[in-house]
Amino acid sequence: MTELARVLFGREDIHRRVDELGRTITGDYVGREPVLISVLKGGTVFLADLMRQIHLPLETHLMAVSPYGAAEESMGRVRILLDIDVDLTDRDVLLVEDIVDTGLTLRRLLALLTERQPKSLAICALLDKQLAPEPRPELRFVGFKAPPAFLVGYGLDHAEDFRHLPFIADLM
Ligand code: IMP
Ligand code: MG
Repeated sequence: MTELARVLFGREDIHRRVDELGRTITGDYVGREPVLISVLKGGTVFLADLMRQIHLPLETHLMAVSPYGAAEESMGRVRILLDIDVDLTDRDVLLVEDIVDTGLTLRRLLALLTERQPKSLAICALLDKQLAPEPRPELRFVGFKAPPAFLVGYGLDHAEDFRHLPFIADLM
């Protein structure tokens, strides 16, 4: 059985930081109606907490993408398993991600969403491992810098387990 090693970000740390992010986003988007887009399944816990700390009219939508492999990588695309059903033209889009590792998923989502001609497109990531090769996607809002370890909890899974943990931990 897979066991947890250490708690890296506790429940209270996460809630405090998500509240701060919500306040910052509220300030930055005042007078606008952002479209929050998150990615199944990992991003949903963060999205659920974050959206309740953004005090503006807003929409939320979910996408699902296939885990990429060597083939997808060389083809330079991410396979969309579930797309959003909303016109993004001239909208202020905020992509809400759980964790940025190599940045490949994000890069492809950004390319896809850019084609839809939003007025603005920014990223809010809860965790950044800072491993993405240059040129790095610009992360406008980041919750925490994360160590280059495999993390679970608060939406992040290992073989589909641990998503429900209210804290973020690494594995033995
Ligand atoms: P990237 O494309 O390498 O940046 O990976 C992004 C996606 O991989 C994230 O949205 C997660 O779904 C998953 N992922 C990356 N690192 C971790 C981790 O440490 N724990 C769990 N999932 C991860
Ligand atoms: Mg993800």
